[in-house]
Amino acid sequence: MDKIVSLSKRRGFIFPGSEIYGGLANTYDYGPVGAELLRNIRNLWWDNFVHKKTDIVGIDASLISHQEVWKASGHATGFADALVDCKNCKLRMRADHLIEDSTKENSEGLNEEKLSEIIRDRRIACPNCGKFNWTEVRKFNLLFPVNLGIIEGDQSLAYLRGETAQGMFINFKNVVDSTRVKLPFGIAQLGKSFRNEITPGNSVFRTLEFEQGEIEYFFDPEVSDWQELFENWKKQMFAFVTETLGVSKDKLKWREHDDKERSFYSKRTVDLEYEFPFGFKELWGLAYRTDYDLKQHSKFSKQDLSITDPQSGKKIAPHVIEPAVGINRLLLTVLCDAYSEIEGRVVLKLSPKIAPYKAAVFPLLANKPELVEKAKKVYEDLRKNFPTYWDDRGNIGKRYLYQDEIGTPYCLTIDFQTLQDVTITVRDRDTAKQERISIDSVSEFIQNNLDA
Ligand code: GAP
Repeated sequence: MDKIVSLSKRRGFIFPGSEIYGGLANTYDYGPVGAELLRNIRNLWWDNFVHKKTDIVGIDASLISHQEVWKASGHATGFADALVDCKNCKLRMRADHLIEDSTKENSEGLNEEKLSEIIRDRRIACPNCGKFNWTEVRKFNLLFPVNLGIIEGDQSLAYLRGETAQGMFINFKNVVDSTRVKLPFGIAQLGKSFRNEITPGNSVFRTLEFEQGEIEYFFDPEVSDWQELFENWKKQMFAFVTETLGVSKDKLKWREHDDKERSFYSKRTVDLEYEFPFGFKELWGLAYRTDYDLKQHSKFSKQDLSITDPQSGKKIAPHVIEPAVGINRLLLTVLCDAYSEIEGRVVLKLSPKIAPYKAAVFPLLANKPELVEKAKKVYEDLRKNFPTYWDDRGNIGKRYLYQDEIGTPYCLTIDFQTLQDVTITVRDRDTAKQERISIDSVSEFIQNNLDA
């Protein structure tokens, strides 16, 4: 993990948040290549789950929402982490993380009393100071409250959203009334969520502010078989991670939530987990949330959120299956998965589809105007179609190494032979092999590799 964190900073993927002021824990900024990588993942997600689907529509809801939304959803009272403080060194940790780190046992979902009991019985010491001097386990709500200046009193309280999902539920009626959707259909959203979390580091794995890609897939349980839909979603999630993003299949596994861990309203929850350097962890969750959310919002808002079947006139309370993923966590996954060291080179073997730059163009020597002019022409032509990097600094070997570290699949060099036979060298990131191709076929060459 240290190597990935160091590469992320060195090459401009991820910077610690507010760094020049000493940093702000669990916040991060994305640098020039990180922002491109994030955007590529985000765009592929939207393209795959909204544009390519005939039964899913996308929305973009407000980040700040009415306090009643979070009372109805249960977050205002039940969305809490169980934390424990070391009375000696003041370290604050999630109790389940403390237990898992020490015993390798999963204790997510246990109540405060049970967690305190395990910590006591196992005499788990503080990982920071080594002492055994904990407070009792206590719950802390994860929602970020905000106070709206334009409203006075209790009503001024609103919340930054803790998940994008509620945006889909509270706009369910708006979407049904404004579009031609019919069951089964999904509402998708991509955007920021906020959680006041305590995290043990591990870069952007768990942060205060993060982007989610969530789909609420609504269906009539009397018509659609939820188990079939569930299996179908599992396939789609797995295909997106492996085929679209190029993550290794053997680093992924499914984990079923047992009764203790699963939310009370969920009939089934599975996590697609990735083997990060710090162990197998949740990447993407899939839950069958039944009709819980729409029923809750109907109750709290006193609005009818059922659908009327146009043929039979029957009222349907749709049920929902929800695939929910973190875009930043997908980014960390692809960074971990792509990181490799080949004969002393650090190579980020990103799929060309998500690589920040699809190619880099170099004149062999920066002080030869005839090479620079020719190279500029290739660069200008290429960047009309693909994000392309220009570099004429330092020796060619160093330029290659830089591109390897930011995951650029191909480096194109214009040399003296180019001036004679109009060919250029193409160097492959993963094999470091070079071949000569004609200048006219460069664009097609890059495109073919993107389509592969
Ligand atoms: N609507 C359901 C929901 O939000 P979740 O498991 O809490 O479920 C879904 O979150 C996904 O969002 C997770 O699988 C993870 O990828 C991402 N995620 C959750 N909390 C996160 C955090 N603090 N930082 C980064 N990503 C997070």
